[in-house]
Amino acid sequence: MENFLNFTDKVILVTGASSGIGLATAQAFAKAGGTVVLADYREDEIKEEAQNLVDAGYSALAVGCDVSEEKQIEAMMERILSEYGRLDCAFNNAGVMAHLSPMAESTIEEWNRVIDVNLRGVWACMKYELQQMQKQGSGAIVNTASVGALTGNPGIGSYIASKHGVIGLTRTAALEYAKQGIRVNAVNPGLIDTQIARDVVEGDEDAYAAIGDGVPIGRPGRPEEIANAVLWLCSPGASYVVGHGLTVDGGMTVG
Ligand SMILES: NC(=O)c1ccc[n+]([C@@H]2O[C@H](COP(=O)([O-])OP(=O)(O)OC[C@H]3O[C@@H](n4cnc5c(N)ncnc54)[C@H](O)[C@@H]3O)[C@@H](O)[C@H]2O)c1
Repeated sequence: MENFLNFTDKVILVTGASSGIGLATAQAFAKAGGTVVLADYREDEIKEEAQNLVDAGYSALAVGCDVSEEKQIEAMMERILSEYGRLDCAFNNAGVMAHLSPMAESTIEEWNRVIDVNLRGVWACMKYELQQMQKQGSGAIVNTASVGALTGNPGIGSYIASKHGVIGLTRTAALEYAKQGIRVNAVNPGLIDTQIARDVVEGDEDAYAAIGDGVPIGRPGRPEEIANAVLWLCSPGASYVVGHGLTVDGGMTVG
């Protein structure tokens, strides 16, 4: 059987690559033979992680980028194209959690902080990625949404709205570009053991453990378990998967 998860000669962008799901996915793409661009606003961290990959014999480049700034995204794409001349896959994954607050007490500053990264950032990244993929006539994009794109969740309205929005953008871009050889999909992680998951409970380890126990599979997910789904969505194995939100949540949303 053909090994679909071979990314040799492919150039792949991963945003939010300094930690958690983004870092695990960048590492997985590199180990699958791809040339990986690690993008994040935490430049020291991505430089170190990219160097670790290069030292291990893989192909990687760090490009600093705050995805809430469209100009920085445009500059990042220019850098990728001047370096490699193409972009085959993009994982738009950078995100922030909302500070817990019921809607009546929430602020416009907090709304903007979350939406600017999680929703406008995904829109702006897709805009420049699609411009290049259109020229190539090929490409695969995966956006990180969330199980929070499927239901409400008290206290984090801006985050929930941003993730519902990511699904809407994913479906729309998928329809707009499917005939041009570009597939756009999303991944919906459940509770994954990263900083953002801990931010929801604001440091309350007992609350965090209780949420993990409540997942049908009995534990939080590992970032690598999301990376596996992202690589498959970007691979030829998913050649007929278009506009889909793939939920990877240990059964959290099944019952
Ligand atoms: N961990 C979970 O349980 C879970 C569940 C559902 C969805 N998600 C989503 O997964 C994605 C990755 O989060 P994670 O769980 O790996 O947490 P994380 O905090 O480890 O990763 C988030 C990454 O995004 C980067 N980032 C934040 N703001 C940025 C900006 N303005 N520009 C560039 N980079 C920025 C951070 O530096 C960090 O590397 C997020 O979109 C998050 O909403 C996580």
